[in-house]
Amino acid sequence: MLSKAFTARAHTNIALIKYWGKKDQELILPMNSSLSLTLDHFYTDTEVYFDQALKQDVFYLNEEKQNVSKVTQFMNIVRRQAGLKVFAHISSTNHVPTMAGLASSASAYAALAMAASQAAGLQLSRRDLSRLARRGSGSACRSIYGGFVEWQRGHDDQSSFASPIEENTNWNICMIAVVIDKARKKISSRLGMQRVVETSPFYTAWMKSTERDLAAIKEAIKKRDLKKVGTIAEENAMKMHALNMSAHPHFSYFEPASIAVMHLVELLRSEGICCYYTLDAGPNVKILCSVEDSTRILDRLAARFDKEQLLVARPGPGVHLINKK
Ligand code: DP6
Repeated sequence: MLSKAFTARAHTNIALIKYWGKKDQELILPMNSSLSLTLDHFYTDTEVYFDQALKQDVFYLNEEKQNVSKVTQFMNIVRRQAGLKVFAHISSTNHVPTMAGLASSASAYAALAMAASQAAGLQLSRRDLSRLARRGSGSACRSIYGGFVEWQRGHDDQSSFASPIEENTNWNICMIAVVIDKARKKISSRLGMQRVVETSPFYTAWMKSTERDLAAIKEAIKKRDLKKVGTIAEENAMKMHALNMSAHPHFSYFEPASIAVMHLVELLRSEGICCYYTLDAGPNVKILCSVEDSTRILDRLAARFDKEQLLVARPGPGVHLINKK
C-alpha cells in the first residue's frame, strides 16, 4: 500500500546574522539567534510517499540514488511523530543553476519536512514545521518562511524555531551570488562551527555582539535602511569568519577570488554604490544591493567572472506544496 504523494518546494536562505555554533547537537539548538533572507531563484522540490513494500527509505537526489543514513535519521523523527512504521520513497530536485555550488541543506530539509509530514498525515503548523526542519539542518528552520526571517535560539526543542519578520517584503533589494568554487566544502559547517565553539577564545564575544547585531538589523530592516542592514550583515559575517581563523586548528573558507570580490565591493562602495558582502561556509560571495544598482555591479564583476558565475536572486517565498507535473 502506498500513501498519497506530496511534493513541497522550499527556497534557500542566506543569513545576514549568522548561526554559528550549537549548544545541543542532537536537537540542533543554536548558541545564538540568527536572521536570514529567503531567495527566489534557488530552491529544492521534494516528493515523499510511504510504501509498505519498502525495507528501508529510498532517496533520490537529481535522479541519482543516494545514501540514506542522514535522511533516515530525519524520517525517523517524522515516523515517531506520526506513529508510523513504514519506509518512504523520497525524491528531490535541486533547482540551482548547475554551476552554482549553492545547493543547500536549508532548502533540502525545509522541503523534506513539509513533504514528509504531509505524506505521514501530520498537519503541522508552520512553527512546528520549522522545529522539524531544524532537526535536519539548523538553517532549514528559516526556509519555512519567505522574506526576512528570524530564528530565535530558544532553550529547548519547543522554543527554538523561526518566525517571519517580513514575509512578503516589497523592498527593492537583491542578492548577487558570485560563484567562485562549486567543489565540496573544505570543512563542513557542522564540523567548523563545533570546532569554533570548542576552541575559539573569542566565542563569548561573538555571542554578545551577535545579539546586538540582531536587534540593530531588525530596526534597520523596518526602516528600509540598506546601508545599515548591509553594514551590520557584512560585519557579522566577518566576525564569524574571524572565529574560524581563531579556532584550533584554525581554518578559513576564503579563496583568493573571494577576497578579490570583497575588495571590489569595498571599491564600489567608495565610488558611492551601496553594496555589501557576506560569505557562508564556502568561498562564494553574496552581495546585497538594490535592484537598481545591480546592473552596474554585475558589469564590474563581468570583467573578472563568467556570466554563469554571477547569479541574481530576489526575496523569495516560504515552503509550500506544489502539484507535480
Ligand atoms: C554559515 O544549517 O548548514 O550558513 O545545522 O549543522 O546543518 P547544521 O548547519 P547549517 O549551517 C549554516 C551555517 C551558515 C550560517 C547560517 O546559515 O546561519
